[in-house]
Amino acid sequence: MTVSVPTDLTVQTYTTLNPQQKTELRKIWLHATNIDSKAIGWLPVKAFDTRAELDQITTVFRNGDNVGWAMAAPSKSRGVLKLYQIWVRPDARILEHGRELVSSLRQQARTARCWQVEAWVASDLPANLFWAAIGFTRCNWRWGKGLNTRKHWRWSTLSASVCGE
Ligand SMILES: CC(C)(COP(=O)(O)OP(=O)(O)OC[C@H]1O[C@@H](n2cnc3c(N)ncnc32)[C@H](O)[C@@H]1OP(=O)(O)O)[C@@H](O)C(=O)NCCC(=O)NCCS
Repeated sequence: MTVSVPTDLTVQTYTTLNPQQKTELRKIWLHATNIDSKAIGWLPVKAFDTRAELDQITTVFRNGDNVGWAMAAPSKSRGVLKLYQIWVRPDARILEHGRELVSSLRQQARTARCWQVEAWVASDLPANLFWAAIGFTRCNWRWGKGLNTRKHWRWSTLSASVCGE
């Protein structure tokens, strides 16, 4: 007998979470920055609290379990939604959670009147394949800041599809 279990993917921003979900997300964010700082960089926990209060953290749930999140904010002067960090739990990768988060960010960019979504990505990360796979374009590059001398690519996409999303 085959039993099919429907998958429920839900994307929410921080301020819409209930208190327990908020606490869990903060723990997961701390865990992510500890185990994956090479990929997502390191930020003090104050950065989480500040962005959370500004509703700049988006999270994805799979059947009620928090499996990933993204931190992004609009640059009003440039009309660009800047992605600072995106992270999916290792046991939930390649199951479309990253794509779902970015799709929500594109919607947020349109709401914020941003024409583009951009992410700077260290050139040695597998995540570059993710950005290419979800239709972002690799643009210019720069060296990492401070002591971080890795080369970083800027990936970007329009917030709205030409055919209208
Ligand atoms: C990058 C990351 C967020 C992607 O999330 P994800 O949920 O695994 O990605 P998705 O399942 O939505 O993948 C979407 C597409 O990208 C592809 N992709 C994702 N990660 C990939 C990888 N490491 N190598 C090759 N392709 C990859 C998927 O195969 C899929 O392509 P398809 O539709 O052609 O099959 C996740 O791997 C992650 O958290 N990595 C560690 C942190 C990190 O590197 N963050 C990004 C720093 S900029």
